Amino acid sequence: MLKVECDIKDIFELTNSKLGSEGLLLVSMDLDGKYNAMTIGWGLIGRVWGDPIFMVAVRPTRYTHRLIEKTNDFTVNVPNDGMEEIVNYCGTVSGRDYDKFKEIGLTAEKGERVKSPIISECIAHYECKVIGKSKVIPDLLSSEVKRRYYSSENYHTLYFGRILSTIKEK
Ligand SMILES: Cc1cc2nc3c(=O)[nH]c(=O)nc-3n(C[C@H](O)[C@H](O)[C@H](O)COP(=O)(O)O)c2cc1C
Repeated sequence: MLKVECDIKDIFELTNSKLGSEGLLLVSMDLDGKYNAMTIGWGLIGRVWGDPIFMVAVRPTRYTHRLIEKTNDFTVNVPNDGMEEIVNYCGTVSGRDYDKFKEIGLTAEKGERVKSPIISECIAHYECKVIGKSKVIPDLLSSEVKRRYYSSENYHTLYFGRILSTIKEK
């Protein structure tokens, strides 16, 4: 399927709706060119520091965390209907142990503006370069959030990715 650059607003609603249901696929790559996909259910699209930003929240225990720390870029991919099993797989096994692209039959397509590839089978894509990051600060969280999400103290790193391009199926 032919892919074309588009406006963020063309894919914003679809992105948010998938984020709130099965999830999106965050792709990152190591310095040797090995890439990995991880499911995300948390994220924000908006403007920070004068730029369009996709903020993703990644726990330090994820293999993905190590990759983003090394290459400072990522892509966010919006799965097509029917990809629920793939999204679930990428959210339950780690790239430390498996080549998820190979195991589940995903195709990596070279990114235009970042090192990390996009996933061909997905219907929309964001290419992002990390321009800032922040740790979640335990003391600044409500006790309810701390109890619900951080019993193991695995506090997310928030990566602010400048959106360099947005792509959708023609
Ligand atoms: C629906 C869903 C949403 C998820 N959202 C996130 C998220 O936003 N941040 C995160 O760190 N992990 C999230 N996870 C967990 C990771 O996807 C999971 O631990 C994955 O196996 C990590 O892969 P990796 O070790 O290859 O990076 C989510 C899992 C699922 C199933």
